[in-house]
Order: sequence, then C-alpha cells, then structure tokens
Amino acid sequence: MGTLFKNGTIITASDMIQADVLVEGEIVTLIGKNIPSRGHEVVNAKGKYLMPGGIDVHTHLDLPFGGTYSNDDFDVGHKAAAFGGTTMHIDFVIQPKGGSLHDGLKTWREKAKPAQIDYGFHMAVTDLRDDVLAEIPSMAAEGVTSLKLFMAYKGVFQVDDKTLYQAMRVAADHGMIVMVHAENGDVEEQLRLQLLAEGKTDPVWHYSSRPPEIEGEATNRAVVMSGMTGCALYVVHMTCEPAVDALRRGRAAGYPVMGETCVQYFHITRDKHLGAPGFEGAKYVCSPPVRNAEHHAILWQAVRDGTLQVVSTDHCDFWYEGGVGPWEKWSKKHNGGNWVEYEAQDPSYRRPGKELGKGNFAKIPNGLPGIEDRMMVMWHLGVNSGKISPTRFVELNCTNPARIFGCYPRKGTIAVGADADIVVWDPKKTHTLSAKTHHMRCDYNLYEGMKVKGMPVMVFQRGKKLVDGDAWHGSNGSGQFIARQTHAPVI
Ligand code: URP
Ligand code: ZN
Ligand code: ZN
Repeated sequence: MGTLFKNGTIITASDMIQADVLVEGEIVTLIGKNIPSRGHEVVNAKGKYLMPGGIDVHTHLDLPFGGTYSNDDFDVGHKAAAFGGTTMHIDFVIQPKGGSLHDGLKTWREKAKPAQIDYGFHMAVTDLRDDVLAEIPSMAAEGVTSLKLFMAYKGVFQVDDKTLYQAMRVAADHGMIVMVHAENGDVEEQLRLQLLAEGKTDPVWHYSSRPPEIEGEATNRAVVMSGMTGCALYVVHMTCEPAVDALRRGRAAGYPVMGETCVQYFHITRDKHLGAPGFEGAKYVCSPPVRNAEHHAILWQAVRDGTLQVVSTDHCDFWYEGGVGPWEKWSKKHNGGNWVEYEAQDPSYRRPGKELGKGNFAKIPNGLPGIEDRMMVMWHLGVNSGKISPTRFVELNCTNPARIFGCYPRKGTIAVGADADIVVWDPKKTHTLSAKTHHMRCDYNLYEGMKVKGMPVMVFQRGKKLVDGDAWHGSNGSGQFIARQTHAPVI
C-alpha cells in the first residue's frame, strides 16, 4: 500500500500539471490522471500545489564561529526546515586548521547523527597543505563533491589567491565544483580597523567595512580564475550589483560560473534594519551585509534572467540576547560529543549570541536565521507579486540546487523514480512569521510580523510524512546523508 496524492497541481521547474502522484516505499512510482485508490492512503490535494521538497544548499548548523556556535543543529534545525517545506540541505564542513579534510568530515558526521531530513556536505578548505591537496579527490568518493573557499574572514577562514587557484585546478580535474564566499578580506580588514579607530562601533558600520565594491572585486577575481582553470564556480550569497555584473560578464564569456543569492537579500535593508536604533541592527549582521532596495531590484532581475540560479538561506542563527552563563561547562559537554539539547542539560545556560558585539560591531557573530522561512518568503515576495512564476520558484529553490550539486533527478523534482520528497502547498493559506511561532532556535525572526500568503501544509520525505499542519511526525536518525555525483552540469 502506498500514498496517493489526488487532485493536486504538480509544479516542476518546467510545468504545472493537474495529475495524481502515487508513492510506494520511498519513491514516486506513477504520475497520471485518475489513478485508482486501491487501498492506498489518499491525500486529497484539491486546491493545493504539489512541489518537490525544498533544497537549501547553504546552511551552517552548529557552526563554531564568532566566539560561539550557531544555534540550530541537525535536530532542531531540521525540524524548522521541514516546517518551512525544506526536505534537504547541504551544510559546510570546516576543515580544522592543521587537520585534514577527513577530520572535518568526521566531526560533521557526528553532528548529523540526529538528522531528521536529508542532508549533504560541502567541504570548506581552510588550510591547503600538499597533503590536503592530495586528499581532495577522496572527498568526491565520499559523495562530497563541492569545495568551499572563503576569500574573507582574515585570520579565521580566509585563503589566499594561490590556494584558491590550486584548489580550482584539482577540483576541475575531478569534476568537482568550487564555491566561494567572495569579499576581499584584506581590504575589509583595513576598512574595519579604520572605522573602529574612528569610534564607529555600532552595528550599522558593519556595512561600511564590507561595501559592494569589495564583494564585486572578489567575485570578479574568482570568476576570472574559473575561466582560466575551467573549474565550475558557484558564488555564494551574492548581494549587489558589482558582484552580479562580474558573474554576468563571466557567463557571457562562456566561463563555467554560477551564483546564488539568499532570501534575506531581497528584503532586509541597511537603512531600516542594520541601521535600526541602539543595538537592534545586530540582528541583521551577516556577511556580505544586507543592501538597500536598489540592489534588491538587481537581484530580482538576476534570478529572473538566469544570471543567478539558486536562492538559499546561509542559515547561521545566533541568539540576539544570549547569555554567557557557564560557557566553559557547556563547551566541555559539547566537545565531548553530547548532542542532547544543551539547555535541557543546564537550564540556567544560554549560549552567547549577538550581544558579544556590543560596543564593537566586528565582534557581532555574523549570520542570520532563515531555513524555515525561505520558501514562504520567496513565494510571498516573488510569486504573489508576479516577479517570478511558480515554476521558476521551484527551479530556484528545489531543482537547480539538485542539478548544480549532483543529486538530480533523485532530488529536486517530482518524477517517476525520484525520491518522494513532496510538499503540499496551500497557495491561499496565510501565516504571520514570528519568533513566537517559528521552530528555529532563535529569539528573533528576520521577517517578524510579515503576513505571507502561501505555505506548506503537509511535508513528506521519501514517502514518510514529516509535517501535517502544526503536527511533527519526523524522528531523529531518519534523515539520510545524500552522496552527490561529480561532473554535475553547469547551468
Ligand atoms: O554572515 C554569514 N554569512 N555567516 C555565515 C558564514 C558565511 O559567511 O557564510
Ligand atoms: Zn559566507
Ligand atoms: Zn554561509
């Protein structure tokens, strides 16, 4: 006996068709008109859309960063993702300094043990010694077919141009893709030190330390290296005109370059949000920084005309008001590999958050919540306003992520033989986004009070129901690691 989705409208990257979908076991086995019920469990999707599960290819769960850890982990973060219609994500493993890529992978595999949705890993290379260069091909054999290099965060994750170039050459030889965080970290450091020396310490000065020019310059540098090495390049979290222009030029020249933006970069602004009075702007500190409306318009154009292929979240949430509490005690527990909720272990403890940067914007942990909100906000801002079609919505949030990162058509579409990751989407249902109701472990919501129209009402992963209205049906350990293929297409 399977599950039969009846009377819905299927949305894929290319079509909207009214048809029934039969799921048997973990996969879609039949799509057609009037499929007989024959003892199957029937989901009546009348008036609803059936979409492939969302894939968020840019997340940082439980990331040690900025003097603390990002809050959501492979338990809570997964549940939040699923409530928002996302059934797979790809997280960034960080190579430990002095350690190997496999050391990083081992740590992230531990982190992922409670998984409730499917996941993959990118490998962030931070220390490219000769032995690490030689190790890269073995990542592909592990199903980790994408490398990430940071051109910013000097003294933390940043690599130099030689490292980026060498990594691209090896990746190209093995059909892997290189991702970059493109900001000029050396110039950022100079700007930051100057601002702090002038007493400019409020959150809004974060913007001035990372202007569009340094994002555009670094994007251009990576694009040129992609052209020279032939390595497929994917520029993450693009925010502004100079960066989009650099990517567009590279694509026009025939270089194998692609890019994403993140949902927050369409809506959150420097002036209203980052520049909010007092310390409030810390809630919106991420890198590259949020930009104003003129850049939002550039991004909408770029996702429409195909310059950008994906919308992700860069989900990396921190408390707004964390507490220093018995930090060392918790840290020891954490390092001991205990994955039970840290607050349940010690209710008086709250992990440090954005407040670390009171009096110095450079110490505010960089990152924002979003894994739960992405699909609803993109539908609301993009589809309801007519800026993008429902099929383009699916392409940006589900299909292209799977294609580019080597797991299509198993993931990212509704098709016979594909994993039955299915979202039942009600285009008429409204919902007010709020920290009071979201599932992310975060004490604020970027879109607080935004009333969205269109949201998931049921979410299935490989045929198993995860979400039904407000009810959670998932379980720890049921999320699977998805090994991805090399030589994915450049689109
Ligand atoms: O501010 C951000 N983006 N934090 C997460 C790390 C990164 O740069 O992606
Ligand atoms: Zn980044
Ligand atoms: Zn990121």
